[in-house]
Amino acid sequence: MPDVTLEMRRVNNCQGCGVSSVQSTEPFPEPSANTEPDDVRHPSLDRQAGRTLQQDERKNATILFADIVSSTSLVSRSDPEVALDILRPALNLVSEAVQRYGGTVNRVTGDGLMALFGAPFSDEEHALGACCAALEMHTALARSGLGVELRVGINSGEIVVHPLRVGNLETVDAAGGAVHLAARLQQAASAGSTWISDATFALARGRIETRIVGPQPFRGFDRPSVVHLLQAADATLTRLDVAGRRGLTPFVNRMNELHLLEDAFGRAAAGQGCAIALEGDAGVGKSRLIREFVAARSGVRVLEATCTRWRDDSGFHSMRVLTQRLLGLDATEDPEATRARLQMVAAAPDAPPAEALDAIAALQGVNAPSAGTEVTPAGRPYRSGAGPLAGWAALAPNARRRRIIEGCLAALLQAALDKPLLVILDDVHWTDSGTYEVVERLLDALEGSRLLLLLGWRSGYRFAWAGHPALTHVAMSPLLPAEARKLARSVLGPRANNDVAVAELADRAAGNPFFIEEAAAIPDPMHVPPTVSSVLSARIDALKPDEKQFIEALVTVGEPTTAELLSSVLDADSDSSHTRLAAAELEQAGLVRIDGAGGSARIVCRHPLLQEVVYRGLTRARRRALHGRIATAMERLAGDRATDEAAVLARHARLGEIWDAALRHARAAGDRAASHHANREAVRFYEEALEALDHLSEENVPLSVGVDLRFALRDPLFRLGRIADLRKRLDEAEALADRLDDKGRLGQLLIVRSHYACLGGDYAATIAAAERAAALARAQSDPALELRATFERALGEFGQGALAASIAGMTEVAEHAEDPALGGRFGLDGPLAVVAAGYQMRALTDLGRFDEAERIGQTCAARAKAISRPFTSIFADLAVGYLLLNRGDTGDARARFADAVAMCNQAEADLMRPVALSLLGAAEAATGDVTNGLELLQSAVTTAADMGFMFQQPLRLALLAEALSVAGQSEAASRWAAEARTLAEVQGDSISLVAARRMLRRKAP
Ligand SMILES: Nc1ncnc2c1ncn2[C@@H]1O[C@H](COP(=O)(O)OP(=O)(O)OP(=O)(O)O)[C@@H](O)[C@H]1O
Ligand SMILES: [Mg+2]
Repeated sequence: MPDVTLEMRRVNNCQGCGVSSVQSTEPFPEPSANTEPDDVRHPSLDRQAGRTLQQDERKNATILFADIVSSTSLVSRSDPEVALDILRPALNLVSEAVQRYGGTVNRVTGDGLMALFGAPFSDEEHALGACCAALEMHTALARSGLGVELRVGINSGEIVVHPLRVGNLETVDAAGGAVHLAARLQQAASAGSTWISDATFALARGRIETRIVGPQPFRGFDRPSVVHLLQAADATLTRLDVAGRRGLTPFVNRMNELHLLEDAFGRAAAGQGCAIALEGDAGVGKSRLIREFVAARSGVRVLEATCTRWRDDSGFHSMRVLTQRLLGLDATEDPEATRARLQMVAAAPDAPPAEALDAIAALQGVNAPSAGTEVTPAGRPYRSGAGPLAGWAALAPNARRRRIIEGCLAALLQAALDKPLLVILDDVHWTDSGTYEVVERLLDALEGSRLLLLLGWRSGYRFAWAGHPALTHVAMSPLLPAEARKLARSVLGPRANNDVAVAELADRAAGNPFFIEEAAAIPDPMHVPPTVSSVLSARIDALKPDEKQFIEALVTVGEPTTAELLSSVLDADSDSSHTRLAAAELEQAGLVRIDGAGGSARIVCRHPLLQEVVYRGLTRARRRALHGRIATAMERLAGDRATDEAAVLARHARLGEIWDAALRHARAAGDRAASHHANREAVRFYEEALEALDHLSEENVPLSVGVDLRFALRDPLFRLGRIADLRKRLDEAEALADRLDDKGRLGQLLIVRSHYACLGGDYAATIAAAERAAALARAQSDPALELRATFERALGEFGQGALAASIAGMTEVAEHAEDPALGGRFGLDGPLAVVAAGYQMRALTDLGRFDEAERIGQTCAARAKAISRPFTSIFADLAVGYLLLNRGDTGDARARFADAVAMCNQAEADLMRPVALSLLGAAEAATGDVTNGLELLQSAVTTAADMGFMFQQPLRLALLAEALSVAGQSEAASRWAAEARTLAEVQGDSISLVAARRMLRRKAP
């Protein structure tokens, strides 16, 4: 026998209404104003009825496997027909339990089945539903007397649910590791029991009872999984009930709403009965507000019921609960006790009318209290089976229904005759059809009573009576940012000290208290908690298909966009009226916001978390398709302005795997970023372009594009000081240029190679590459290439300390770089002329030729000013400062270097930073601020080393040694001087070598 009990709620067998079980019911959409006199006034409760899964979707769901135990021996031992007589009804009972709790049976084998909860359509209570279904399966089989038992396994997690068509058979199936674990749990469970995973346990915690089985190894899984034995479940508990048991978070604000409620209660108490509807998103705090309001009304009579998704099938579930509470009935008592209690109520002076009590008795599933006490008109007792009960039993279903409605209404009004009464109905979006009608009638009857009817429901639902004049709507908005932060702080615990974390949590949750609490309860609040994800995807799945597609397209665009773009993405041929309609519907449902009007109106998803959940629900294939369509539509709509949107277009084309467009747009975005010195972005875009290129064949895109992209990367990489990456890209470019035998690109490449060899401190390689470039230039009669080769060579010579040779080369470049005949090729332009003049100055300074250096410095500074570009100005400042420093004008030098450091930071000139820092450090040390100077020099040396920027590194080391010695740290000074010497020797840097040796001699005892 199963050791499980289903303690959800007592299920009575109602003689009046035929209630026999609980029923899973989905939220219903917009009940119509159908006035037919029978019980079809309430439209279909099943939003998902008749819907089929259109495409593969990722879902957070619960998977249940159930297997009839020892069925194999049953089948082998007995006649097939006998076995079938047992298996068939058993499977029916099992699948009924699945359906009752909102599950879908998606696989049936001869003796078992697999079911999905929360898939194909999301359900925020998928884990709890599966647990309740499992418990009910065991109970139903035990009661059936079929003599078989079940093993059940349940697991929750992310799956991909997909439509499956095999021949004529259409079903859905699920894929993912979560499915396998559920199957393994089922295989391992003992007969009559249900094993659930830790993931399911976490989702249903507080509403299920379990016994821990412990970590269990399962075939196919690397690590053991923690298993729980399911024992009981209580589906009547709301999440707030569970939260209440743990201890609620301190209540935040809601003063306005509380005042409105107080006002309404005041009016009702004075005999002007009225109703309030609290409307708001899931988790916004409707139930909490009600709780706080009730807590503050001690002594007031309160009747409260929460509409539930899994309810009895009386059609009056919530009214049953409300009337039980009104009359003090105990739902767990046997019918006789209930009847006795009803008779007592009937005898009280303020008892509801007898017909009302009869109807309520019928609703509770017991005989009418008046039966047996009443006498016939002739004064004799009714015969057994006759009288009012017989009268009730003889009524047609519609008449019974109307009597129950009237009865409930009369009983409630009677209770509010003399004293105020607060009637609360929460989660009205899940109401049953009978309660729905009682509410409608009650609204008509409130006037003159002392009853305040308080209704709570989630926004997005519309009820026929919602516009009733007695009903005041209170829209519950998310918490304001300051309040949301207050709540975030109170739930984040020790992490609340981090203001950024607090603000991020509050903003991401868009002020929704439930989302804030749930996100704070998981290790990384930046993830979407599975509970929140299920609530949000259930909301999305309840949308009409075209609204759902709209929101999927919107979140894939990922930023505010227009109806025009979305309609073009969703259906290239249609006009945008459909899309505008969907947008308007979604705006009304509070899911999107529309800023502005007409064609330029911008549509934006209102909740960051919703955006994330919807996007994550898309399969990779669907995301790819959507991004591709977005890229195509955007490109078409942008027309000539496509370059302005290159970055966005590049992203969609890349994610849509339209590689030629991805290449084109990423390159354009890279060029744009590079032109603004947005170096990090430029590198990212060019690298994305290269990645796109990898997907394209040589027939589609010429190889030269690969060379050019790598060239394009050189400047931003250089500015960011990523020398090693740069070298790698240049190697790749050279290999490509060789394959192409492209002399023009090869010349360029040699220049670049020479330049970057110099930055790496390899002056021999610098000069060798420069000479190859010069030879190529001469062979091709290319004076521009030749002049640039001269510059590179002079730079190498400067590095080696061959100052006279370097001055000659730099002078030539400074004079001719802007020669119009050279056409600005190979980077020959004003800025390069300033750089050449700068080196000229520095070499002259090192040679002690200060006057010449100063003369050049003046023109250099003037030209830099005219050019007004960060790099040029930094160069000029450093060169002039160097002269000042060496001449002994340390104060002025220091000001120049400080300017240069500031500009380096501003312009992300990461590579120039060590140069500027080291010179500033030297100047600080020289002006007496040794501590600061040392710090700057230290940082210059390490940042340069980290970047692989070895040009003049020995000089920086020598300057550091010098400052250390001034600070009296002679041991460290000698160590760094020795380092400077070694590096200078390796590089062949004669000037630094001299300086280092001098230092070392000075330090020698
Ligand atoms: N003003 C508030 N201050 C502090 N905590 C709040 C506040 N409002 C709500 N909460 C907390 O947020 C969680 C969700 O609130 P509640 O259950 O009232 O939401 P709801 O709007 O009723 O959602 P649902 O539609 O899912 O029933 C609860 O744990 C509640 O305690
Ligand atoms: Mg609630």
